Amino acid sequence: MREVISIAHWLSETPLARQHDRALRGELLRVPKPIPWNLFDRGRYPAPALELATDLAAKLANGEYASIALFTQIAAGLALGGAPFDLVHAATRISSDELRHAEYCLRMAELCSGGQVTLQIDREALETNVPNAMIREDVDFLVLKYACVGETLAAALLTECRRRARDKVAKALFTSLAGDEVGHARFGWYYASHRVKEWTIPERQALADRLGEFVQTVESALWLGRDAPAGSESAARALGVLDSETQRDVVNDVMKREIVPALDALGFGGSAMWAARARA
Ligand SMILES: [Fe+2]
Ligand SMILES: [Fe+2]
Repeated sequence: MREVISIAHWLSETPLARQHDRALRGELLRVPKPIPWNLFDRGRYPAPALELATDLAAKLANGEYASIALFTQIAAGLALGGAPFDLVHAATRISSDELRHAEYCLRMAELCSGGQVTLQIDREALETNVPNAMIREDVDFLVLKYACVGETLAAALLTECRRRARDKVAKALFTSLAGDEVGHARFGWYYASHRVKEWTIPERQALADRLGEFVQTVESALWLGRDAPAGSESAARALGVLDSETQRDVVNDVMKREIVPALDALGFGGSAMWAARARA
């Protein structure tokens, strides 16, 4: 006998359900605001600032590109696991945002470097960090780790890049990215609020254990920003580059104000995870 996955139509009780209805009616179609690429003038910046900006944009491009695969896998797991249609839909939309982000960041890296930049995706990290999302517990973990925590951090960091940037192209780029990442984080938290009522105590504990490992290393992983050498600080800043001190402040602030309280509210013991974090 063949095993059949039977899926009934349903929507979540979160605001994503309404958004989904509007999307189906074509009300959410939006044309991304164009980035004024041709305004970029490399000649205005010293080489050390351009190198840092290239590195930032290239690393972002790698992460954005890997996120296409990640959210595609999440979408597959949600679809085949019979999740509410609005949640599946939201995940599919995120993948296409990440593709656009990857292209934007690659283009920015090329403008800053003045040459060709290729994406560098760590195969081993993908294999270990993106487990097969056909298992519901893994889908939960991926959403909590990458959408809830990861996208909330990304939104905070990119918002700070945006706030500092004086360069027109960098400003437009970070404005576009930060706005989308806020929506991606929201997807994560809505998903969690939908799932929280379904988790058994052992399931929640298993997720908390996996999540704890990640939350405890976030600070040390993001400890170093991109510090410009003397004389290039303001140029690096104008390009949206974050120095180490600023980056640490942003991470600490968003963890304490948003992520840890939200994890506490879901019953994951976020405060305890954060208190037990590895010191950089
Ligand atoms: Fe992104
Ligand atoms: Fe994202």
